[in-house]
Amino acid sequence: MTRHERDIGEILETLDVIAWDGPVLTNMSGSPVDALEDGKVLYLPRLGFGLSAGETRFLSPAMADAAAKNVSYHPPSDALKHALGSAEDLAAMKAMLRRYHEHALALVRLLLPQYADSLEIGRTSFRPAEIAGRRLSAKRDDTRLHVDAFPSAPTGGKRILRVFTNVNPDGKGRDWRLGERFEEVALAFSGKLPPYSRARARFLNTIGATKAFRTAYDHTMLNIHDRMKADDEYQRAAEQNAFSFPPGSTWIVYTDRVSHAAMAGQHLFEQTFYLPVKAMADPARAPLRILERVMGRALA
Ligand code: SIN
Ligand code: FE
Repeated sequence: MTRHERDIGEILETLDVIAWDGPVLTNMSGSPVDALEDGKVLYLPRLGFGLSAGETRFLSPAMADAAAKNVSYHPPSDALKHALGSAEDLAAMKAMLRRYHEHALALVRLLLPQYADSLEIGRTSFRPAEIAGRRLSAKRDDTRLHVDAFPSAPTGGKRILRVFTNVNPDGKGRDWRLGERFEEVALAFSGKLPPYSRARARFLNTIGATKAFRTAYDHTMLNIHDRMKADDEYQRAAEQNAFSFPPGSTWIVYTDRVSHAAMAGQHLFEQTFYLPVKAMADPARAPLRILERVMGRALA
């Protein structure tokens, strides 16, 4: 079976931005928010994140605890997790992540001004480990195409918007695969799901296994996520494009809608934001609404 690709212009929208607070040069026909909500990746090939001479020592997998692999920072509480080093190292790593967070926030405010009042701040991550060749169970293996959905962190339908920047110092790209449209994913994977149970969702929330109540939407997305990753034939044969994001580039993507897989690469920064569906320019394009149309019932 031949594997189909799309024209890469249908998947990536390129914007020329060289500073986190602008200006933006673009010859795109619509607005950045329109492209993003439509399931495209906003690609900023010349927007890098500069590390100071002192910070380049953090470009080592030894800076993150082996089980977690990523250093994680929570801007609202100023808490750093999974980082290893002296007190001085930890303070400097925190400042580095904080700076990435501030840049990413300035960028989304610049490009997506209509979201400014509604964006919720999620975690900032620094990913200093090589991702190729890791041994993980299918569910945890991000080298398999998937849409983001997390067992312990239900969103209730809120959008997951992520900013990524490759800071690899050796010229190594972040090699992704980008899969078919969410409408197709929904058609392929939303049938015959295990039944949703509110009682079980309440139980999981009560014992602290989930950080919030797992809605029917979260249950559906989690099952789609797991089924996509478990399906070897789908992984091989589904429509997909390979794209390598070079060092010194940034990209913005709704990872709850865009099917993606990260195949190889080392040294990445990432900032997560959440956006309520009603704050979208066109809420009908949320995975929640797409799934409701495909499945013919309310999920939230
Ligand atoms: C993912 O979101 O699946 C992984 C992205 C990456 O680390 O490049
Ligand atoms: Fe992902």
